Amino acid sequence: MLRSDDSLVHPVVRADPSMAAALTAIAHAAKRHWGYPESQLQEWSPQLTVSAEEIQSRPTGVVIDAGWPVGWYQLQPLGRSLRLDHLWVLPGAMGRGIGRALFDHACREGVRLGWQELRIVSDPNAEGFYLRMGARRIDVEFPDPNCTKGGLPVLLVHLGSIR
Ligand SMILES: CC(C)(COP(=O)(O)OP(=O)(O)OC[C@H]1O[C@@H](n2cnc3c(N)ncnc32)[C@H](O)[C@@H]1OP(=O)(O)O)[C@@H](O)C(=O)NCCC(=O)NCCS
Repeated sequence: MLRSDDSLVHPVVRADPSMAAALTAIAHAAKRHWGYPESQLQEWSPQLTVSAEEIQSRPTGVVIDAGWPVGWYQLQPLGRSLRLDHLWVLPGAMGRGIGRALFDHACREGVRLGWQELRIVSDPNAEGFYLRMGARRIDVEFPDPNCTKGGLPVLLVHLGSIR
């Protein structure tokens, strides 16, 4: 359920490649927030890391609060789908509508770039957020043997319904 007032309260701007370390730190802190053991976080570190080159070459939006990034997203075209590769909010900034503002911006960016669908492979703890945003579950993935019990929900958003 998109609500454009959150993107007014929390403006989303294009991320700068110089923010790579700060955005990587947010991704680690947000994932840690779900209570995964440090050994597991270490293993996932490559997926939680963003490079300056990726920020430069992929649509990447960030919310800045008091001069510091507090949440960000990144999109990546993969085959026939546009994929939400990252969506992370700093734990201290969660629950204030920043996730919604980022998700809203990501969808609008997808529309602007001409995509029909946005695909998300979600952390199980975040699925409720995506469902709340209007996504629907279409599948479950089991990417590796350490994968959370029950797998990772795969969700889809039809961008055609977004104006
Ligand atoms: C999931 C996440 C992005 C949500 O960001 P947030 O800024 O806390 O969310 P918002 O404040 O914008 O919440 C918007 C709505 O979603 C709901 N919501 C937020 N997180 C939720 C969750 N985990 N489950 C169910 N509902 C959730 C809120 O209650 C709110 O509902 P409302 O419409 O009644 O107001 C954030 O918790 C996060 O970064 N989590 C850790 C990292 C992660 O797993 N990211 C996803 C990777 S796939």
